[in-house]
Amino acid sequence: MSRRTAEPYKIKSVEPIRMTTRAERERAIAEAGYNTFLLKSEDVYIDLLTDSGTSAMSDAQWAAMMRGDEAYAGARSFYRFEQAVREIYGFQWMVPTHQGRGAEHLISRILIRPGHVIPGNMYFTTTRVHQELQGGTFVDVIIDEAHDSLSDHPFKGNVDLVKLQSVIDRHGAENIPYVNVAVTVNLAGGQPVSMQNLRETRSLLQHHGIRMWCDATRAVENAFFIKERESGYAGKPVRAILKEMMSYFDGCTMSAKKDCLVNIGGFLAGNDDAILQAAREQVVIFEGMPTYGGLSGRDMEAVAQGIYEMVDDDYIAHRINQVRYLGRQLVDFGVPIVLPIGGHAVFLDARQFLPHLDQDEYPAQALAAALYVDSGVRAMERGNVSSGRDQATGKNRRPKLELVRLTIPRRVYTDRHMDVVADSVRHLYEHREEIPGLEMVYEPPTLRFFTARFAPVKTACQVRT
Ligand code: F0G
Repeated sequence: MSRRTAEPYKIKSVEPIRMTTRAERERAIAEAGYNTFLLKSEDVYIDLLTDSGTSAMSDAQWAAMMRGDEAYAGARSFYRFEQAVREIYGFQWMVPTHQGRGAEHLISRILIRPGHVIPGNMYFTTTRVHQELQGGTFVDVIIDEAHDSLSDHPFKGNVDLVKLQSVIDRHGAENIPYVNVAVTVNLAGGQPVSMQNLRETRSLLQHHGIRMWCDATRAVENAFFIKERESGYAGKPVRAILKEMMSYFDGCTMSAKKDCLVNIGGFLAGNDDAILQAAREQVVIFEGMPTYGGLSGRDMEAVAQGIYEMVDDDYIAHRINQVRYLGRQLVDFGVPIVLPIGGHAVFLDARQFLPHLDQDEYPAQALAAALYVDSGVRAMERGNVSSGRDQATGKNRRPKLELVRLTIPRRVYTDRHMDVVADSVRHLYEHREEIPGLEMVYEPPTLRFFTARFAPVKTACQVRT
């Protein structure tokens, strides 16, 4: 008999959630333009929009916040934060930012010039926008398996070294300020990169004198997958695996709102003093003094404490296994999801789920809206809307992956909440042909998924209960 396990924490404080009726939810989604980003949180039952800034903090983090040193410059809290980054990530210096995109903004301004090319293992929305704003062009060098929701490759986030070499040959190393490697890869389904791939990518780039930068947003989750799947790592603590991963990079951008178990914060970290000096010059313009970068002292305390908690082996094992607990139920129901199940979310394959819709009827957006109406579960579109328009042609990019992300906040929901989500998705799958497509009726110029509005193509968004 396989024994069941449970959360490695107990609940000390609760936040009640409001139950809604189907009629209320139909009204709410229509008012939100069928965009789950525009729903009010009080109309949501189980909020799986994102794992970003939605973690439950520990009692130790709340206690640490009382120690926050709110000095404008040189706060003790900054030095504790810097020490945690040095100890756990291994980078020499750290500049705080208000969140991940603040760090992306800094590194893009510092290193990218017009005409530069920045290879990366699949794009991320904010990362690519900052590269483009500096006149750079993102080039995808992830392995082909990442774009195939059915491939069960254990490290679908890997960099394709042949693709990377050919980008270098085509553009010249002098036009590539750095390669950006994300661990894990959010839009591929939270898929990890292997240690071997990091090592090989590093050695290729070293040969060409190109920097290797990391998007370390979910690096601890990546470290857990290495422990589980890569030979030689089974007996190692996640903390040691993370440190080895980071040793292959020149630096990282970080959204502390994920791995670090806080509600706000980010940082840029690295070893090169010239970049540190440039980062200090830039951060004062856009974020704040280099010893706070847009964060209060108490925020920095919470991140510092979260950095030590995130590498607890029992915590991270439970976090990944809760995501899998949801995913496996959906697999058992025959629902098409991205496999293997990733680190922070279960991704529904909306193309396979709703084959009657064209991709320009935004199947993933339509499915996310239908899920909300069915059960009050809020998910996020990660497909044709998120991907935006091609800069050259102005057409929708129609990415291979058209996904709905059920993103699991850290330490917030119980496995019982996962059961409710699974039942709702199953119900929708059984009635999938009744889910109508959407047309976009308002489109903002950049990062359109946040604020775009939609209307159902045919009938009102309705699934029989
Ligand atoms: N990089 C990755 C891989 C991310 O997933 C995110 C944010 C960022 C950078 C930007 O960080 O939000 O702190 O500015 N992802 C969130 C999400 C928004 O829901 O996936 P940020």
